[in-house]
Amino acid sequence: MVIKWVKKGRGGIYWPSKAMKKRAWVSDEKIYKEANKNPIKFWEKLAKEGITWFKKWKKAYVEKPPYFKWFVGGKLNASFNCLDRHLEKRRNKVAIFWEPEPKEERGRVLTYYELYKQVNKFANVLKKLGVKKGDVVGIYLPMIPEAIISMLACARIGAIHTVVFSAFSSEALKIRLQDTDAKFLITADGYYRRGKIINLKEKADEGIKETKVEKVVVVRRLGEKLEVSMKEGRDYWWDELMKKAKDYYKPASMRSEDILFILFSSGTTGRPKGIIHDTGGYLVQAYWTAKWNFDLHEDDIMWCTADLGWITGHTYGCYGILANGATLVMYEGALDWPEPDRWCEIIDKYGVTVFYTAPTAIRMFARYDGRLVKKHDLSSLRILGSVGEVINKEAWLWFFKEVGKGRCPLIDTWWQTETGGTLINALPGIGPFVPCFAGRSFPGTRHEVLDENGKVCKPYQEGNLVQLPPFAPGMLRGLYKNHERYVKTYWSKYGKKIYFTSDGAWKDEKGNFRLTGRVDDVMKVAGHRISTAELEDAITRHYAIAECAIVPMPHEIKGEVPVAFVILKPGFQPSENLEREVVKQAEKYIGPIARPAKVFFVQDLPKTRSGKIMRRILKKLVAREKELGDLSTLANPESIEKIREILS
Ligand code: WT7
Repeated sequence: MVIKWVKKGRGGIYWPSKAMKKRAWVSDEKIYKEANKNPIKFWEKLAKEGITWFKKWKKAYVEKPPYFKWFVGGKLNASFNCLDRHLEKRRNKVAIFWEPEPKEERGRVLTYYELYKQVNKFANVLKKLGVKKGDVVGIYLPMIPEAIISMLACARIGAIHTVVFSAFSSEALKIRLQDTDAKFLITADGYYRRGKIINLKEKADEGIKETKVEKVVVVRRLGEKLEVSMKEGRDYWWDELMKKAKDYYKPASMRSEDILFILFSSGTTGRPKGIIHDTGGYLVQAYWTAKWNFDLHEDDIMWCTADLGWITGHTYGCYGILANGATLVMYEGALDWPEPDRWCEIIDKYGVTVFYTAPTAIRMFARYDGRLVKKHDLSSLRILGSVGEVINKEAWLWFFKEVGKGRCPLIDTWWQTETGGTLINALPGIGPFVPCFAGRSFPGTRHEVLDENGKVCKPYQEGNLVQLPPFAPGMLRGLYKNHERYVKTYWSKYGKKIYFTSDGAWKDEKGNFRLTGRVDDVMKVAGHRISTAELEDAITRHYAIAECAIVPMPHEIKGEVPVAFVILKPGFQPSENLEREVVKQAEKYIGPIARPAKVFFVQDLPKTRSGKIMRRILKKLVAREKELGDLSTLANPESIEKIREILS
C-alpha cells in the first residue's frame, strides 16, 4: 500500500496528511511559539536529549558581539556521537550504502560497527603520522566512504578537517591549504566521473606545492586502472597504513567551542573565506534539523546528493544523519550517468525514503518529461527536499508530482555554509508546503526582513534577510584568521547584533519566507557559490587580459551561469583561442564549475566616475532587459550601445 503523506489544501497549498502527522516527530504548531518563548532553554533541552556529552555545559549561551558561544564548558566528541553511541542498538545496521559510478562495479555496505572500526583505525593512522589535536587536515577526496571515515577520524582525535571539493582545481586546493597551514592531506589516486578516469593525485601533488603539507595519505580507489606517482617519505597508501593500525582510539574530549571543521566558501572578494564551525553547537543543530526536517526514523534511508565538499554534504551527508543513527546513501558519480535516470535507479535500488537534492538537478531531471521516472519504482520515497537556490514553481511542481507522485512533502530548505544547518523551511508534520516558499524559521531561531535603513519590512515588502539573536547554535564562529572580514561581511550592514545573510527575501503575514536571491556579488551556479571577484581575479591573471567583468546570466537548468566581459591589453586581438584561454583560467584557478558560459571581448565597460565597473548594468544587458535602472553615475554611456551590439 502506498501511503499519502500530504493532502491538498486550497490554492495550490499542501498540508501533511493524518498519516504524516501521526508519524512525525513534530506535528504541533505550538512548537514555534514555545521555542521562541525562550530559545536558549529550548536549545538546551534539545542539546541534552539529542547529543551525548562527556561533560555538561555550564553556560548555554554567551554573547560577545559579533561573537557568541553555545554550551560553554560542555565536552563531547562528534565521532562518538555518530558512532560509539549507536553500537549497542545499531551495531549491524547499515550506516552507508555506497554506490560506485561504473555499474559493473559492486557497491560497498558499511554497517555502523564496520564504520566505527575503520574510523578508529584511521584515527590511529593519523596519530601515528603526527596529527595532533587542533591540527588542520586537508581532505581532497571523491565521494567514497573514505571521505566520511577521514572526517570522523579527524573529529575523533580532535583535529580540524577542511574538505576541498574534488572537482576544484589544484590552485583552489593550494589556497585552502595555505590559508589553514595544513600539514596533512588525504586524497586518492583517482575516481570516475561520467565514465572517465580522473587523476586526482596529480592535482593534489600540484596543489600541495608552496604549502606546509608534509604527509599525504592516498586512498586506492582505482588501483591498477591508474598509475600515480608516490613520493617516498611523504606519500603513504591508505590501505597499507590501515593494515598496521590499532582497532581502538579513545575519542578526544573536545570543548563544545573547539573547531570541528573549516569549510571555504566564496564571498565578495577574490579569496574564499574559511568558515569556522564548532563542535557542540554545530552538532546539536545538525542532529535536530536532520531529524525534524526529514523526519528520520529507524527505518529511513536518506540520500543527500550533495558532495561532501559542500556544507550540505557535511551536515546531511555525514554528521546530521549519522548522529541520528540513520542509513545514508553515498554515490560516487554524476546523477545522470550513464543514463539520465541513474538517480531513479539508485532510489529504487536502495529504497531511499528521503531524497534531498538541488533545484538545478531537478530542472535537469524535468527535461525528461517524467517518462524516465515512470520506469522506476519510487514508492519508497516519503520526503523530498530541495536546497541551494530558489526553486522555481515549475521545478517544484514537477518534483512534487512526478517524483513524489503528489504523496510526499517537499521541504525547501534555506540555509548557508555559514549557518551550518538548515534554518528556514516547513516541517513535514506541520507544513504548509507551498511552491517557492521556504517556510518559517526553524523553532528556536528568528529571522526578519529589513529595509536598507534597518526597519522591519511589512509583509510582502522585499528587503534583506537577517537573523536575530540568540543566534542558532550551528552558526559559524568566525572566519579562520580573519576577524575583519568576518565583521565586514556579516556584522556591518546592521551592526554587531544582527546577522546579515546577503539574501533578499519577503514574507507573508504568517511568517513564511520567500527568498529572492543574493544581494551581493555572489552568484549561484547550479547551486554553487561563485564570486564574481574570485572569477575576475582568475581571468585577469592571464597575460593578455587587461580587465574583466563577470556577471550572471539566467540559465534554464543551472539557474545562472557566469558570463565574462574581457578587455584585452594593447597588441592583442580577440580570437577563439583567447576565448578558450579565458575559460581555462577559470578551470585552473577555481574549477570547471566556474567556467564562463560566454566570453565577450569589449573595448570598454560601463563604469562610474570613480572607475568602478557597473556590473548591475551589464547584468541587465545580458538578461536583455530594456530598463537599465539609474544611470546617473555612469561615466561612459557610449559603452552601453557597443555592448548591446556585441550581445545581439
Ligand atoms: C546561499 C548559500 C545551504 C547549503 C547549500 C548552499 C542560497 C540556499 C536556498 C533555498 C533560496 C537558497 C542563498 C544562500 N540558498 N538554499 N532553499 N532557497 N535560496 O550553501 O553555498 O553557502 O549558499 O544559497 O542565496 O545565501 P552556500
